[in-house]
Amino acid sequence: MSSGPSLYRRHRPRTFADVVGQEHVVRTLSNAIEHGKVHHAYLFVGSRGTGKTSMAKILAACLNCVNGPTVEPCGVCDSCVSIASATSLDVIEMDAASNNSVDDIRDLREAVAYAPVSGRSKVYILDEAHMLSTAAWNAFLKTLEEPPPNTVFVLATTEAAKVLPTVVDRCHRFDFTRPTVEQLAAVVRRVAEKESIQIGPDAVGLLARHATGSFRDALGTLEQLVTYSGATIAIDDVLAVLGVADADLVFGAVDAVASGDPKSALLAVAKLGETGRDMGGFMRDLEIHARELLVVQTLGSVPAEISITPDRDQRLAEQAARVTQADAVRLLDLLAAAMKAVRDGADARTQLELALTKAASPEVDAGARALHARIERLEQALSGEPQVTVPRVEPPPAPPGTPQPRAEETSPPEPSPQPAAVVVAEPPAPTGGLELGVVAELWPAVVDAVRVDDDVLAMCLTEARPVDCAERSLVIAFHPDDTMRRRKAESARARQVVAEALRSLTGVAPQISVEARELDPAVEEAPADPEAELLERLKAEFDAEEILDDPDQEGAA
Ligand SMILES: Nc1ncnc2c1ncn2[C@@H]1O[C@H](COP(=O)(O)OP(=O)(O)OP(=O)(O)O)[C@@H](O)[C@H]1O
Ligand SMILES: [Mg+2]
Ligand SMILES: [Zn+2]
Repeated sequence: MSSGPSLYRRHRPRTFADVVGQEHVVRTLSNAIEHGKVHHAYLFVGSRGTGKTSMAKILAACLNCVNGPTVEPCGVCDSCVSIASATSLDVIEMDAASNNSVDDIRDLREAVAYAPVSGRSKVYILDEAHMLSTAAWNAFLKTLEEPPPNTVFVLATTEAAKVLPTVVDRCHRFDFTRPTVEQLAAVVRRVAEKESIQIGPDAVGLLARHATGSFRDALGTLEQLVTYSGATIAIDDVLAVLGVADADLVFGAVDAVASGDPKSALLAVAKLGETGRDMGGFMRDLEIHARELLVVQTLGSVPAEISITPDRDQRLAEQAARVTQADAVRLLDLLAAAMKAVRDGADARTQLELALTKAASPEVDAGARALHARIERLEQALSGEPQVTVPRVEPPPAPPGTPQPRAEETSPPEPSPQPAAVVVAEPPAPTGGLELGVVAELWPAVVDAVRVDDDVLAMCLTEARPVDCAERSLVIAFHPDDTMRRRKAESARARQVVAEALRSLTGVAPQISVEARELDPAVEEAPADPEAELLERLKAEFDAEEILDDPDQEGAA
């Protein structure tokens, strides 16, 4: 492979025949050239790396080739060569992103007045046309409408909606389509062949699938691969450069969690360790992924902002349908705790393994959380804060024949050793339903679980108390004066989040109702000024501003 300008520049299509896809543009432009009906203003619209600049240069070469106007520019005459090397005086490329002032446009208007050097056509390529200011456009409109003879403007943009309608109206518009995976693969193969790069069809396919519909990105990755592994590229190199191995591990780890298979989850971590990848980074990837699953579950489809490639989107949608929302929430919760522990100095691999094992075995998790809540209260009591009476949680009777629980997990039973398709959480309450004492003890853990989903709601819930409980329903109460928090907790969504949190802890998702009741003195120490703290939180979360009715205060701001 030779050095010099980047691969994508060296392999710009130079003739219409070289262009892959965009047939409608090629056909219309060729016809116009053949019939001498080239318009004086074109608008090329399309996402990045789809060939807009290349097409504009081909048009310029067709018009200015020594044999021109022709639809087959020779590629060797002075004009063709200078256009290819971007040195032609008659093909002026302007980046509107950096030349968007009225002054720049004035310069352009003056330049337009001069006749083409070659005696044929002058072609102005205005890239990122949506970046021009309205004032600049207005200064340019007249020129665009009535340019001197033999002047062609090509405005290229990725965002047509941002171009002034009056400008769009004066142009012939072409929409550049995103290439298919096959078209991307064809270009990668062609360039690889010309550069004597050895790359197998599977590697080309993978690369093309990850090029997000951009020829430029595909060639950019190919170039990166050459730097990474030389002129012979294997599929593993592509996986490494694209970071795809991680994506597979992420999907795999979540599948393991969803099917209650802690063993596979640990294998994913082991694999991660073998490849020497960063455990912390993987936790973050996993967190992002779990969040995306929640988004897809909530919306029922993959929204544009998290869409990557059709393949990956489909995979995400499939997984979102397979995994329960409770699983995704619990995983997020456990990962947050693991990352916090790592920040506090714990070993990343151990924390990751712990989080995945717990996530894959909800009954272990529920027990651990109950335990955790208990330890936290004990610590609080020891540190001299108000003493709390803790109701006892009875562990469920171990079914006969279950293996002994591990040393660190005392109350709950081990998950069954063979990987069950779905592990159903064992409720820790002996009745199989909910008990008020248990829920009261778990309440801080419930609030923690809610916090993953909804910080503000969690804040509100710290002021609530579980007050009544039947097997599958739970009443929580706020102080009668506390209408603001009660309202927040009353919404259907809030009650759903609380029910899910309880499910992740107890295996039971009760019907939640919210009441105002005179409560016993706070069981936990309330924040110094909960109202103020809630306000602070709201401000931070929603960029909210407190409306002050004191005119002096407003005036002082
Ligand atoms: N239709 C195509 N056929 C073959 N190669 C293409 C095609 N489109 C783009 N390419 C390749 O991608 C590179 C980038 O294309 P080009 O600069 O024309 O895209 P663009 O649409 O102008 O992108 P941007 O919006 O980022 O400016 C080209 O140099 C070429 O290597
Ligand atoms: Mg371009
Ligand atoms: Zn030529």
